Amino acid sequence: MSLLAVEHVDTGYGPVAVNRDVSLAVGQNDEIVTILGPNGAGKTTLLRSIAGLVKPRRGTVTFDGRDVTVLHADEKAALGVVMVPEGRHVFADMSVRENLLLGAYCRKDRDAIEADIALMENYFTILAKKRGAKAGTLSGGQQQMLAIARGLMARPRILLLDEPSLGLSPLLVSELQGIIIDVREKFHAAVLLVEQNAGLALSVAEEGYLMNSGRIVASGSIDELKQSSVMQELYLGKRAQQNHGASPASL
Ligand SMILES: Nc1ncnc2c1ncn2[C@@H]1O[C@H](COP(=O)(O)OP(=O)(O)O)[C@@H](O)[C@H]1O
Ligand SMILES: [Mg+2]
Repeated sequence: MSLLAVEHVDTGYGPVAVNRDVSLAVGQNDEIVTILGPNGAGKTTLLRSIAGLVKPRRGTVTFDGRDVTVLHADEKAALGVVMVPEGRHVFADMSVRENLLLGAYCRKDRDAIEADIALMENYFTILAKKRGAKAGTLSGGQQQMLAIARGLMARPRILLLDEPSLGLSPLLVSELQGIIIDVREKFHAAVLLVEQNAGLALSVAEEGYLMNSGRIVASGSIDELKQSSVMQELYLGKRAQQNHGASPASL
């Protein structure tokens, strides 16, 4: 049984259809799975439908064996399905500590929440230094760390990360790579990672899906995905026949 299973999901906004017949799975063993695809492919909309922010029009979302398709975001967060939205979305006028506390809004275990804040400040040391600072005064990279730490404060069993590398310097992207692996190793959560940065996504994930025009057009292990012609044609912008026989070393 998968930890998360998306089956035949359609999504859309009003008259606009976005995702069509999307199926994917994240395994029980704190797997890291990525969804790659060009801008406008429907990746964010799919993550939002898994998180309960957009209602699927068709299909099912099953989490840990339970049908959660129509649950709201706060109910899903309480079960452990937590999204870190793209663009960091920290509360700029609130302090770093208040942002972290907001991540635990669905929890009532006060002592454990304080212990988790200490855990986050210990792991993301910049957040300890900036505890009282307004989140809006942090750098882009620091805000991304705060957004991830805020997600972890909900004690997720799966963290849905929407383009965390957007706008980060190469140095910060490599730091982010370690953080994503630690979400599994230290914080014991699975990760569903949406990325435009194929290098980052393919280096941390075990399984991947390629989305184009709302549909999954390729999937498999990372090696299978790298070798698929549709990946090379659509995502990497290369024509399969031109690239025939070439190793995707640039990934
Ligand atoms: N709130 C919305 N209302 C209407 N259309 C939207 C909305 N959000 C996204 N879309 C459209 O849905 C499509 C997929 O967008 P999105 O899921 O953000 O893709 P991605 O994350 O892959 O860039 C795009 O054509 C976008 O314009
Ligand atoms: Mg997006």
